[in-house]
Order: sequence, then structure tokens, then C-alpha cells
Amino acid sequence: MTEHGDSHGRRPDPHEHGHGDGGHDHGPPVWRGLTRWLYPILYRNPASNRLVVELAALTADDRVLDIGCGPGAAVRAAAPLVEEAVGADPSDRMLRMARRRSRALSNVRYHQAPAHHLPFGDDVFTAVWTVHSMHHWGDEEAGVSEVLRVLASGGRFLVVEQLDPGKPWGIDEAGIDRITSMTQDAGFADVQWTKHRVGRADEVVIEGRA
Ligand SMILES: C[S@@+](CC[C@H](N)C(=O)[O-])C[C@H]1O[C@@H](n2cnc3c(N)ncnc32)[C@H](O)[C@@H]1O
Repeated sequence: MTEHGDSHGRRPDPHEHGHGDGGHDHGPPVWRGLTRWLYPILYRNPASNRLVVELAALTADDRVLDIGCGPGAAVRAAAPLVEEAVGADPSDRMLRMARRRSRALSNVRYHQAPAHHLPFGDDVFTAVWTVHSMHHWGDEEAGVSEVLRVLASGGRFLVVEQLDPGKPWGIDEAGIDRITSMTQDAGFADVQWTKHRVGRADEVVIEGRA
């Protein structure tokens, strides 16, 4: 089932969550320690990653970027459909797994980078998404403004978060309003959100156009 909506709301203070690995163990408590190690083993082909690739309505001319790509499932799902599929993640461990699992794909590359400092030129991608990652970004506004910079005019931005109020990884209605407003304030057009039942989870997708 899919629900639609527009929302406007206020943005609370951002939380500093750190940037993954690199010898640090930052991130929301749920992402520390064992969870961070088990994640890429347990979630090899998550339905949320297939969802974003489907919603992005990709074509052979697309150049796509997955921010916080983790082990790269969405990058690999997109690769056969597009010109180039790129993943960015600050975590060494995630990128090692992503590269190992993507060896057979010639149009895939990965870069070690956080959302707020993307190592790409202006206007280079036609679609950018981030799945279950934005809540890790230390500075969401800086990340969203980087997305706008690297997206070509008309390019799509999709943010996927799980609707799970009260959970450290979950989003609630206030979170949807906050991301929607932040995306609009950054300069994205046609910002809207949809809700999707994926297995036993509700996934919220907030989309806008550069
Ligand atoms: C829950 S995992 C999701 C991975 C992948 N998108 C997926 O759906 O399987 C969150 C990812 O966000 C990454 N991350 C943490 N801080 C980040 C930041 N500041 N910018 C971009 N990605 C970040 C983590 O390293 C991790 O790979």
C-alpha cells in the first residue's frame, strides 16, 4: 500500500552522529559495535534498496549516486539499468564489501566520503538517493545542499527512511516534516513523500527535483 502527502514543518536541532568507520565508532547507539558489523552480512539485498531503484524510474542515460551506500546493494541493482552507478560512504568496511560484491560490474565505482563533503563536480548526477542513512549524517543540511550541487537540473533526490517512531533508526511524522522542509528550503522543487509497505516495514520516501 502506498500513501501520499505533502508536509511542512519545523526542524529541530541536528544531532551529531559521526561518519562511520575510519577507526571511530560514532553513529547512533544502535549502529555501534555488533550491529554495524552484522548489517552488511544480514542485509545483502534489502527490499528497501530495490524499492528506491524502482521508484527512481531509471533509464540508460542516468548517472546515479547512492549516499551512505553501505555494502552497495542499491548501486548493484541500478548498475544494469544506467550509464553509471556510484556509491559514497565514509565507512572503510562498508566500501570494502561493496567493492568486493561489485567486481563483475564495469560501470560501478565507490568513493569514501560523507554526505556533507562529496568528491564530485557540480551537476554530474541525474539521480541521487540515500537509504536508511540520513539519520547518520552529522549535518543533514550540508548533505542536502551537497546533493543539490552534484545533481544536474531536473535530477531526482530520494530519501528513504523506515517509519518506526521511537526507534533510533526510525522516522516519525515530525521527521518527515523536517526532511521535507529542509529539502524545500535547500531549493528542491516538487517535494513530496510517499509511504510503502515493504515486507513487515513501512518505508517513507521523500522525493524532490533539482
Ligand atoms: C543503515 S546503513 C544503510 C546502508 C545502505 N544504504 C543500505 O540501505 O543497505 C547506514 C550507512 O550510512 C553510512 N553513513 C554514516 N555516516 C554517514 C555520513 N555522514 N554520510 C553518508 N553516509 C553515512 C554508514 O557508513 C552506513 O553504511
